[in-house]
Amino acid sequence: MTGHEADIDEILITSDAIQEALVRLGSEITRDYAGRDLLVIGVLKGAFMFMADLARHVAMPMEFDFMAVSSYGVATKTSGVVRIQKDLDLDIEGRDVLLVEDIIDSGLTLNYLLKNLRSRGPASLEVCALVEKEGAQRVSLDIRYKGFEIPEVFVVGYGLDYAQRFRNLPYIATLKPEFFDQGTKPPMPKSLT
Ligand code: IMP
Ligand code: MG
Repeated sequence: MTGHEADIDEILITSDAIQEALVRLGSEITRDYAGRDLLVIGVLKGAFMFMADLARHVAMPMEFDFMAVSSYGVATKTSGVVRIQKDLDLDIEGRDVLLVEDIIDSGLTLNYLLKNLRSRGPASLEVCALVEKEGAQRVSLDIRYKGFEIPEVFVVGYGLDYAQRFRNLPYIATLKPEFFDQGTKPPMPKSLT
């Protein structure tokens, strides 16, 4: 229980399913990167939980770094304009880089990030995403490691937020419809209004 349960509509991905995906993805990454010098980059804030849990299932030495980008703000649709709020600390030139993302919706954020990182000359650059929204992509992307596909709905939990809340839910779920008003102001969680 996290105190958010009253606002949750439907659990789309259970905690058990997430655990199974972590084991599967972790062993794929361990196998594929054996003997290489892996640098894992997490996209803040959404990927923090996934990255931390995934890393415990990757049985090899690795380094970590983080980037923070702005995409949605408090609304639920991306504008396509991505701003880097925190850049990497490490130089990725010549490194084997694995970018860890929470969720891919339009794909615009990831597309921008990949272009940006590619320009820094990594030896390799792959993506591990926990969730992909089926049919939502506006650009074609190659996701090497993928946890789940879900329909085009807004979800929260396991790192994913709505107006900065719900990140601590151990599962991924939709919010009750009454949660979103149709007004011109960005909708706010009921508990904050
Ligand atoms: P995209 O650029 O449309 O692919 O959106 C990517 C980013 O928007 C993700 O990294 C998330 O931070 C956020 N996002 C997209 N869909 C959702 C969602 O359903 N819930 C919470 N955040 C989301
Ligand atoms: Mg994100």
